[in-house]
Amino acid sequence: PAGEVIQFKEGKPITPVQPIIPFIEGDGIGPEISDATRLVLDAAVSLAYGSARRINWFEVFAGDKARQQFGKPLPDDTLAALRHFGVSIKGPLNAPTGGGMRSLNVTMRQHFDLYSCVRPVRYFSGVPSVVKRPQDLDVVIFRENAEDVYAGIEFEMGSPLAKKILALLAEEGYDIREDTGVGIKIMSRTGTRRLVRAAIQFAIDQQRKVVTIVHKGNIQKFTEGAFLKWGLELAAEEFAEIMVSEDDLWSKHGGVLPEGKILLNHRIADATFFELLTRANKFSVIATMNLNGDYISDAAAAQVGGLGIAPGANIGDNCALFEATHGTAPDIAGKGIANPCSLLLSGVMMLEYLGWTEAAEIATKAVQKTIKARTVTGDLARFMKTSTKLSTSDFAQAVVGNMVKPRRRSGKK
Ligand code: NAI
Repeated sequence: PAGEVIQFKEGKPITPVQPIIPFIEGDGIGPEISDATRLVLDAAVSLAYGSARRINWFEVFAGDKARQQFGKPLPDDTLAALRHFGVSIKGPLNAPTGGGMRSLNVTMRQHFDLYSCVRPVRYFSGVPSVVKRPQDLDVVIFRENAEDVYAGIEFEMGSPLAKKILALLAEEGYDIREDTGVGIKIMSRTGTRRLVRAAIQFAIDQQRKVVTIVHKGNIQKFTEGAFLKWGLELAAEEFAEIMVSEDDLWSKHGGVLPEGKILLNHRIADATFFELLTRANKFSVIATMNLNGDYISDAAAAQVGGLGIAPGANIGDNCALFEATHGTAPDIAGKGIANPCSLLLSGVMMLEYLGWTEAAEIATKAVQKTIKARTVTGDLARFMKTSTKLSTSDFAQAVVGNMVKPRRRSGKK
């Protein structure tokens, strides 16, 4: 395709004026929400930069479409293109049927070592929510994407390896029942440091004021506890100039964060669930392990009105894949009624990641305005007292119609 390849320097993209960005449409509702997403992103880029910048979209194939055309759900050419072009966006993919096959999503995350799962959770005015002040929550969750129990080191009850491990533990004096399945939780210093580094760097880049390390180290000392210890060590080694600990905040600064500094605190996972509901505005960036991150992302998304609009990204040092957080919604596929917001807002994250913040701001504000005007797709309309129900493509057109070029950049908390 025409355009230029995005290069990476020290883990960050160097964005040309006409980057080539591969997209995977996805299965089920994928093609509908993918069309809507590209329409909105192109309009935002055009309004922000005129003809000076443009995304050159390049379709690559995965899932059902790839199976039909190339006989494989994830062709080698697709993996090669995603690696070569560095930054891409994908719709949801059906999990392969038939046991034993790994999910395509997991395969891609592992293949490109996309170690940060990034999930921003914020409220869009007008979205129905179960809490009284959903607007208090505006948090970006950095979830470690490769280790923890998700590394999949598990042994079925009665299997030779489970028996071997239980025998070894018995030798060491651990008294464990014979009818036990065994799972091993792993967390490395390397994995912790790169995830916490990415979270802190994000807070610096996005002018966010708090980074909270969330862990269950009071119980799991050498995995979750080590995650906290190694995270604090990393912050002290690499970000001492800018980070202020919670102790220092009170002992040295009278509880007031000095200008230009970022608070680094930590919370136990269960207390985090409590405080996300009761003191939502105390959070800004969360760095956590894989399983905690899984639970927290969905709970936080529910607080602001559900998973239907929550965007997500999987980011590594030389590669980033932006994706919808929901599935292929086979029950409504092909009907043109799906809500494109999750993929669309993932695309907005992609614009921010590329440094095209003006276009990202235009798109975000236009989505906000469209939802606030109660012109929404059916999934949101059914929870609103009065609303205008739009098709997927009409919603995208409405978002484009609501775009306004901002006069100046606004700050973030
Ligand atoms: P799902 O997220 O596809 O659907 C759950 C419910 O939410 C359905 O009622 C659906 O209609 C609705 N829904 C989802 N997205 C929507 C949207 N954008 N607009 C309006 N309504 C929406 O989850 P489900 O049914 O468990 O999974 C279906 C397939 O998707 C499975 O094959 C699963 O493996 C795959 N999947 C893929 C993911 C990915 O590619 N990242 C993530 C989750 C599931």
